[in-house]
Amino acid sequence: MSIAARRMSRIKASPAATISAKAMEMARAGRDVIALSAGEPDFGTPDPIKIAAIRAIVEGKTKYPPLTGIPELREAICRKLDRENGLRYTPEQVLVSNGGKQVIYNALAATLDPEDEVVVPAPFWVSYPDMALLAGGTPVAVAADAANGFRLTAQQLEGAITARTKWLILNNPGNPSGAVYSARDLEGLAAVLRRHPHVWVLTDDIYEHIIYGGGPFSTIAQVAPDLRGRTLTMNGLSKAYCMTGWRIGYGAGPKALIAAMSKVQSQTTSGASSISQWAGVEALDGDQTFIRDNVAVFEERRDLGVSMLDQAEGLSCSAPKGAFYLYVHCGGTVGRRTPDGGVIENDGDFAKYLLDRGGVAVVHGEAFGLSPYFRVSYALATDRLTEACRRIQRACAALSG
Ligand SMILES: Cc1ncc(COP(=O)(O)O)c(C=O)c1O
Repeated sequence: MSIAARRMSRIKASPAATISAKAMEMARAGRDVIALSAGEPDFGTPDPIKIAAIRAIVEGKTKYPPLTGIPELREAICRKLDRENGLRYTPEQVLVSNGGKQVIYNALAATLDPEDEVVVPAPFWVSYPDMALLAGGTPVAVAADAANGFRLTAQQLEGAITARTKWLILNNPGNPSGAVYSARDLEGLAAVLRRHPHVWVLTDDIYEHIIYGGGPFSTIAQVAPDLRGRTLTMNGLSKAYCMTGWRIGYGAGPKALIAAMSKVQSQTTSGASSISQWAGVEALDGDQTFIRDNVAVFEERRDLGVSMLDQAEGLSCSAPKGAFYLYVHCGGTVGRRTPDGGVIENDGDFAKYLLDRGGVAVVHGEAFGLSPYFRVSYALATDRLTEACRRIQRACAALSG
């Protein structure tokens, strides 16, 4: 008999983490593997942020932090939301958690009753559906059209909402598609939400700063202030501030929701690391220019990856507007034969073939709810990215039939 609870059979381990772990294992065994699977910037955390953390340690700011976050960080978050997004929140409307991931899980765990539905546009970040399932709800994936830049349309949203819908999750810019919703797109979705007052919206803005062509970035609470009473704006420091390992994310929303989420956090992890929170104050209040510099590097890599992969036989790829991923269509490889006689039946087979033959780790589209695609993260050194794209081109050229 399995030790695992029945609900565990409804969820899977994060495929991106599993594939990255496999690539690391292969590299440790001596294989030359390039991992395009991890969702983290290759840039280091900027020095002033590190120094703020060291200062926090030296000054003994190492006790249990307040459950919802140190006041200094929650105030810095309120300043950020006001400065960058035109959103006024008070610290009581803000919760700091152990990464953006925990903010989302807290929200779903605090609000979902059995059979409540969560609308998730696909391709989606792999964790949304599983977090909804773990929290007892039912994810409802809605395939967003590549021709529409993988953005959910108002009509699709209208068609997906039922009496049981509790949440719409938006991810802007999106992982894995890089989709960016304009203010106008959000206005269209907001018009639908106005007709369905029982539906809340969680916007995951963690890639907010990684946007190409100068933005602008829009978020639904700003575009539709009348929906603020049922909007949770989630963000975090992992991506823009190169702080994936520091584990700081935050949510801003109505007090009652934040209180319910805090209750979940109080009985699970307590407050996020005190040291990371002090570093977070420096991240949000300090110099921001490195973000622009990093985004310029990402943009060059995006263009390089798009042009190399779009040339590969059987693949097609267009330039996404945000985040640091390419969502590459691999339909032209399906049905073809590998040099050792196997047949590529789906994007999972293709990703496996790339890893086995080319030594390149990517995440197959099925994991994100939309096939046949695979996701490439271009948050790695440019020469490694170039080499990985060459390997993918060669692996594609080696297919026959
Ligand atoms: C869309 C999206 N949301 C949230 C997260 C979680 O970020 P954090 O490191 O803050 O938990 C990620 C990380 O990959 C992500 O891609």
